Amino acid sequence: MKILVIYDSNCGNTQKVAETIADELGVKTANISSINPEELTSLDLLVVGTPIIGWKPTLRMQEFLSNLKSNQLDGIKATAFDTRVKLFIHGDAMGKVADSLKNAGAEIFVNPMPFYIEGPQANPHLLKGEIEKAKEWAKNIKAKY
Ligand SMILES: Cc1cc2nc3c(=O)[nH]c(=O)nc-3n(C[C@H](O)[C@H](O)[C@H](O)COP(=O)(O)O)c2cc1C
Repeated sequence: MKILVIYDSNCGNTQKVAETIADELGVKTANISSINPEELTSLDLLVVGTPIIGWKPTLRMQEFLSNLKSNQLDGIKATAFDTRVKLFIHGDAMGKVADSLKNAGAEIFVNPMPFYIEGPQANPHLLKGEIEKAKEWAKNIKAKY
């Protein structure tokens, strides 16, 4: 089974969540900047994570998603996550990522999941318990796959 966990991350928190999920699934992560969208065709399972920046996925993630061709992810199960602040208004990135994956043919088989950060913008960190939440979410992915 070929599984890929792709992420973008500015301060390392989304990377930490991605690595936790990948560990649980027994696979490696790939930073968005090292992935060519052409490589995604032969996958079985794809998990994509991004920080929310200005209510959206990062610009790098938006560009990556915009390069996916329709039907490119046919037959691939996929889901998405984002990292965000715990405020009443925070916007959404995971839903936008999931929509793009779906538009490219993927089946969103597990609901997207948000992970929360706090602290100064230049040096945010994950809230207590979010790494455990990531492990549980990955177990759920494994169970449903
Ligand atoms: C310029 C900027 C814009 C941001 N916009 C949002 C936002 O709209 N909603 C939100 O929940 N968090 C926002 N954040 C917080 C980021 O989501 C947070 O820094 C990110 O999850 C950290 O992930 P990383 O450590 O992987 O970079 C913003 C942060 C920055 C620096």
